[in-house]
Amino acid sequence: MMSLETIIKGRVSQKSYTDQKVDRELVLKLLNTAVYAPNHKMRQPWRFIIIDGKARLDMQERYTKKIKPELKEKVDITFGKILKAPLIIAFVMPTNLDYDIEFEDIQANASVIQNFLLLAEEAGLSTHWKTPGFIKTDHFKAVLDVKNNELVAGLIMVGYADEKAHDKPRYPAETITTFYK
Ligand SMILES: Cc1cc2nc3c(=O)[nH]c(=O)nc-3n(C[C@H](O)[C@H](O)[C@H](O)COP(=O)(O)O)c2cc1C
Repeated sequence: MMSLETIIKGRVSQKSYTDQKVDRELVLKLLNTAVYAPNHKMRQPWRFIIIDGKARLDMQERYTKKIKPELKEKVDITFGKILKAPLIIAFVMPTNLDYDIEFEDIQANASVIQNFLLLAEEAGLSTHWKTPGFIKTDHFKAVLDVKNNELVAGLIMVGYADEKAHDKPRYPAETITTFYK
């Protein structure tokens, strides 16, 4: 069994994937564990949209056919990268007029996403968390059927790595930690 340290350090943002499909049941199983993330007042401020196989191309087509021509090249490049994964998960959260609640819910979403990334790593999958600018647009939200009072916290690419990305060094904790006196 892999140690948690190995799983945390092994998770890297993966750009390239094999064609191997990702089993939907496996993804649901991982999500069912990921939701044990901390969340204030048990609001469980999340839902998930799985976009796999041909649906990925449908999503791209529905989005790109209605955008301004000057944006098309940039959006095509971004979709080209995202669609390299055989499965994508949109993590969707409610917006809230109360900033404090929304702030907590964003953090809870980061927790559920990281849980998912680590569980995926343990299951032999690779992932990449992406937040392209267009996820905030009404048009993209409409394409995914995300409501006005929701936002897309992130798009998570999921698949099997062809050549696994390298990890990136971090600041040692000793250099960024102080002991309060
Ligand atoms: C909230 C968030 C948003 C991110 N958005 C993007 C993105 O839009 N495009 C991208 O290539 N990577 C994105 N990343 C991935 C980071 O660039 C990546 O985690 C960072 O470079 C560290 O590399 P690692 O994940 O391989 O450890 C995002 C990560 C987080 C946490």
